[in-house]
Amino acid sequence: RKAVTGLKDVAPFPIGGAVSIRKLAGDTALRAIVTTEFSSLTSTNDMKMYSIAAREGQLDFARADSTVAFAEANGMRMFGHALVWHYGLPEYITSKDRAGMEAFLTEYIDTVVTHFRGRVDGWDVVNEVFDTRGGELRATPFYTAMGEDYIELAFRTAHAADPQAKLFINDFGTERDTSKLNALVDLVVRMRQTGVPIHGIGFQWHQQMRDDTAVIRQTLRRAAATGLLLHISELDLIFNTHNDAAGGGVEEISRMTPELLAAQADRYETLARIYRQEVPAPQRYGITFWDFTDRDTWIRGFFDMNDWPTLYDDDLQPKPAYDGFRRGLEER
Ligand code: G3I
Repeated sequence: RKAVTGLKDVAPFPIGGAVSIRKLAGDTALRAIVTTEFSSLTSTNDMKMYSIAAREGQLDFARADSTVAFAEANGMRMFGHALVWHYGLPEYITSKDRAGMEAFLTEYIDTVVTHFRGRVDGWDVVNEVFDTRGGELRATPFYTAMGEDYIELAFRTAHAADPQAKLFINDFGTERDTSKLNALVDLVVRMRQTGVPIHGIGFQWHQQMRDDTAVIRQTLRRAAATGLLLHISELDLIFNTHNDAAGGGVEEISRMTPELLAAQADRYETLARIYRQEVPAPQRYGITFWDFTDRDTWIRGFFDMNDWPTLYDDDLQPKPAYDGFRRGLEER
């Protein structure tokens, strides 16, 4: 009898998936993939500020709690995404002045991290604090109210609430934009020097087939030199292109061929290998897939274009990409 082994069983570091607990609850096939393949879980949307703090004066933990319970029941590590992100926030938050924002962030982060203390292993404390391109801090409502101080406040508050939790700064595009990577590394180094409790860097890695793997390798090497944990936090790999902002999709490829699927498999293999080769074992927080079926990928809706960015096809069958990624993990 052949034992079923998943990616988690062959990887020398945690392998994660982003999930929606509502979707998981009603879908046996999806659940089977999650429990067989992954050792780490991230909630796609249910632990975001806009989900938990949608209504003023009242935090809603229902779906986040169910997600954490699912992770625990299946012996998986739970990762928290994300404490502070500007996207989709209600007006009562975005309109705050400095004092109001400081009070809100302190109370929100303290309450949420305390609520999950000991059960959430690590957090994206701040997500996407940099502009889409270049190295400037993004003019979010937090930044507008408090300047760059909100970042330090967020890390200190999270650390005080759960001193064991690993605290990350998470962003996208840093593997293809040197200015953005420089700004990220500079910020992290400055924070370490001034004693701000930050433990890791998250690379979203929403990648495109045309990205230069030599540059990707180089950026990971540079980040590894900080000595911090490195999390590939939102991996997927698209064929078409987009401009990194909502709605900017360009659909050049409209159907899959065996050749394209094979190229994607090679690329997934290379990415797994780059992570293994460039990140020293103690710094490997793991690789998390952001949606892992083409059926459910956020790409199609968000950019309004067709694509096939994940390891599983529309019928939830493993693609060549799955085998490719697995090869990249397993080789010695
Ligand atoms: O649940 C409602 C559904 O009831 C409604 O019919 C439908 C109509 O628009 O919307 C559904 O909610 C959507 C939700 O995804 C679930 O699919 C929201 O509109 C949509 O805004 C939301 O998008 C999420 C997006 O972040 C914004 O929060 C994506 O699922 C999620 O994959 C994406 O994740 C982000 C990371 O957090 C940060 N990095 C980039 C990444 C991709 O954009």
